[in-house]
Amino acid sequence: MTEQEFSGKTALVTGGSRGIGRACAEMLARHGARVAVNYRSNANAANDVVRTLQTGGHTAIAVRADVSDETQVQTMVETVEKQLGPVDLLINNAGVFYYATHEETDLELWNRTLACNLTGVFLVTWAVKQQMIERQFGRIVNMSSISALRPRPNSIAYAASKAGVTGFTKSTAEAFAEHNIRVNAIAPGLIETEILDGVDQSVLDRIVESTPLGRIGTPDDVAELARFLLSDESRFMTGQTIVGSGGSMREASNFETSPTTAGTDRGHCDSSAAALSSATQPTNTAAPAASRRNETTVTRLNIRSRSANLRCEASVPSFGARVETQAMAENCKVVRAVQVSPIRPAVAGP
Ligand SMILES: NC(=O)c1ccc[n+]([C@@H]2O[C@H](COP(=O)([O-])OP(=O)(O)OC[C@H]3O[C@@H](n4cnc5c(N)ncnc54)[C@H](OP(=O)(O)O)[C@@H]3O)[C@@H](O)[C@H]2O)c1
Repeated sequence: MTEQEFSGKTALVTGGSRGIGRACAEMLARHGARVAVNYRSNANAANDVVRTLQTGGHTAIAVRADVSDETQVQTMVETVEKQLGPVDLLINNAGVFYYATHEETDLELWNRTLACNLTGVFLVTWAVKQQMIERQFGRIVNMSSISALRPRPNSIAYAASKAGVTGFTKSTAEAFAEHNIRVNAIAPGLIETEILDGVDQSVLDRIVESTPLGRIGTPDDVAELARFLLSDESRFMTGQTIVGSGGSMREASNFETSPTTAGTDRGHCDSSAAALSSATQPTNTAAPAASRRNETTVTRLNIRSRSANLRCEASVPSFGARVETQAMAENCKVVRAVQVSPIRPAVAGP
């Protein structure tokens, strides 16, 4: 990739004034794009990004708009088109995160989250797509989250909004493909930005502890993924969601027996290589070291064998009885697993 990969291109980064969006704006400018930095309320932060970029010899403007407001979005896009030209590269990054239990999640919080994180992605995409179609060129990156891909008991609205973003990404990718418009998404893990301000340090520490690469991510880590998705390096990719989480999603599609998931219903989780279980005969027999990592305590574990098309259900007879899981055949599927003990608060970050 050349240093000026995006020269001659106009880029719009929503929520570009801080955190991941700022890193994306800087990355785009470094690679030659003219950059529009969107923000909602913090004009100082947006102006600071623009000043920094201009000082570095780049072309940048700040544009205020609440992405959940159709009129403001329309005005923003018209301003960008007038000052920098039609948008070639769009990063739908603006987002809000509220750490809330189900008791704290009311309709107002739900609507506020969905309006910014999902409707905002729709409105901005719709405001730029016609120009992209006419010019037969467009690259769109939507900011999802690993919350979209695994249970998040304390951020239900956020997780739902981000799952919506991955669905929107897949569907628009198909709809726009014939116009040479590629749409992909990034699902970051824990990234050090102000969005985490409301989350307990102990929760953050626990997420970092369980992250294979052993650290929190930086906004630049995510900006580099965005660069890849916007560039020709990813020319044969569309509709995809790339996880950038230091590895912490590695078991998301498997049955994960970590105590941090205690109490969750992992219905229809695929078990690929090493998931399951002596569920039909709960025992304490010694398991190989590798499979002991899957040890857990359950009340019920229902398994379906795909190959034999069988469904066996096993209920552990006594509450809290210990079932030692061990690697079994690959062609199995956990259809329901309910853990009861030990229960630790579930981890939930953006
Ligand atoms: N940080 C993480 O751990 C993490 C993990 C996964 C996914 N993400 C996602 O990554 C994206 C960026 O997050 P971040 O951590 O960089 O957040 P951040 O530091 O809190 O920055 C959020 C940005 O979004 C803007 N914004 C918020 N609501 C807006 C609205 N309605 N209209 C326009 N702009 C709005 C803010 O502008 P103002 O300052 O003007 O309000 C700010 O520029 C979000 O979509 C987030 O969900 C973050």
